[in-house]
Amino acid sequence: MKTLIAYASRHGQTQKIAAALRQQLQEVGIACQLLTCQELLVRREDLPLTTAVILGSPVYYGAYDRKFQAVVTRHRDHLNSVPTAFFSVCFGTGSSNQTERTTADEISAQFVQRTGWQPQLTHVFAGALRYSQYGWFKKRLVYWMAKRAGLKTDLDRDLELTDWAQVQAFGNQFIDGLMGKPIASKI
Ligand SMILES: Cc1cc2nc3c(=O)[nH]c(=O)nc-3n(C[C@H](O)[C@H](O)[C@H](O)COP(=O)(O)O)c2cc1C
Repeated sequence: MKTLIAYASRHGQTQKIAAALRQQLQEVGIACQLLTCQELLVRREDLPLTTAVILGSPVYYGAYDRKFQAVVTRHRDHLNSVPTAFFSVCFGTGSSNQTERTTADEISAQFVQRTGWQPQLTHVFAGALRYSQYGWFKKRLVYWMAKRAGLKTDLDRDLELTDWAQVQAFGNQFIDGLMGKPIASKI
């Protein structure tokens, strides 16, 4: 079995989730390669050799990372021939506002519909707001967007919204699938 987790990440939260999933798989004896989508696009031969894949991308301005989208488009047929899971990361799903949560789910659902990729498992995780890494303008823009989305947020404090129990449940579902047990399409 050649298992791969590939992700895109600008500020580190999607990478952190991908690394946690890799560790979870390794703890049950499943060796797993961890690559960025950028690396995967350069190493064109890697993905077609995989027998199970998890892909993750953050949402920025309502859209997924371009390199992540390129990976899915380029390798869709292979992805549909092996067990795969898709996670996305955004703040909308961590909002108390139902409309924001629905939008986050729709972005994910529309992506799989548009690309024709059929992951067995999909989930949208709440991400993080890393104000300490943003420049002056981005900091204020994200603060305003997060406020509008109903999040309790403070410009002077980074905010991690990820529910790590959900990440673990997602990993467990994927592992169950690899072990031949039935998996629910959502956690
Ligand atoms: C400039 C900017 C734009 C964002 N746009 C959205 C958005 O449209 N919808 C959303 O739900 N989250 C949005 N987010 C939240 C990110 O998806 C979240 O911070 C995520 O954790 C980023 O992942 P990364 O750390 O792996 O890059 C945005 C964040 C930033 C900094």
